[in-house]
Amino acid sequence: MLSLDNVSVTFNAGTPNEVRALRELSLFVEDGEFITVIGSNGAGKSTLFNVISGAVEVDSGRIQLDDQDMTYWPEYRRSHDIGRVFQDPRLGTCPGLTIRENLSLAAIHGRRAGLQRDVKRSQEAWFFQQLEQQQLGLEHRLDADVALLSGGQRQAITLVMATLTKPKLLLLDEHTAALDPNAAEQVIALTQQLAESHELTVVMITHSMQQACVLGDRVIMMNRGRIEFEIAGEERQNLKPSDLIDRFHSLEGATELSDRQLLG
Ligand SMILES: Nc1ncnc2c1ncn2[C@@H]1O[C@H](COP(=O)(O)OP(=O)(O)OP(=O)(O)O)[C@@H](O)[C@H]1O
Ligand SMILES: [Mg+2]
Repeated sequence: MLSLDNVSVTFNAGTPNEVRALRELSLFVEDGEFITVIGSNGAGKSTLFNVISGAVEVDSGRIQLDDQDMTYWPEYRRSHDIGRVFQDPRLGTCPGLTIRENLSLAAIHGRRAGLQRDVKRSQEAWFFQQLEQQQLGLEHRLDADVALLSGGQRQAITLVMATLTKPKLLLLDEHTAALDPNAAEQVIALTQQLAESHELTVVMITHSMQQACVLGDRVIMMNRGRIEFEIAGEERQNLKPSDLIDRFHSLEGATELSDRQLLG
């Protein structure tokens, strides 16, 4: 369970460039929940992820994961519990290393002792099995340099790496935005499959209203550093992209949505 309690972040405080990126934001995420986060450029979505992962320190407020107060934990200490995938497929994997080497690094990074023993015992078979489940044919390319893979394949490997050690929380920041529609569809299917099979808790930022309506149990709309509204339950089940766009435009002071958001 993740909880953020009245979290605020201001960049360049006291200067003409001051930005209040998060304004007393509170959020509670249940174990096993899959949440999609939408909002215009600059709404504070990535900053939300940065304070959860520890890349940005809060000005005030509290962040807890499984009842542990990690508000002032450094990023590396949180990274064992929190997996993160970014928009750029190059960020999640090391070029010059093979798929096997990348997976080995992810496995070493995992602190779950039992899991590490399993990896050592039969690492080869284990990696093969992890990739085989994804049905992308990558299990036969364990010795390929990841730099030679397509963006979609690289993002698929990144997802497998981020979930290999079953993190308590998986943060996806527009992780399909740089992919072509086919690859994006594959990576979304893989995301769903991994979330279900590992029973992960997922928070996913997307600019696609379509993805926000199809994936997950709850949609959160951010605007100007705040959560403006949430849609869950029955209303979420019947949600259409046009409903989200209408709700967004009814917000006071809402900035424009991009074409990608309107069409996606
Ligand atoms: N390190 C930083 N230093 C200064 N300002 C920042 C920093 N990071 C973010 N900001 C500002 O904080 C605000 C929120 O940015 P953030 O990246 O969280 O938005 P976002 O919702 O992720 O937008 P996008 O959809 O474009 O990714 C923006 O005005 C941005 O310019
Ligand atoms: Mg962002």
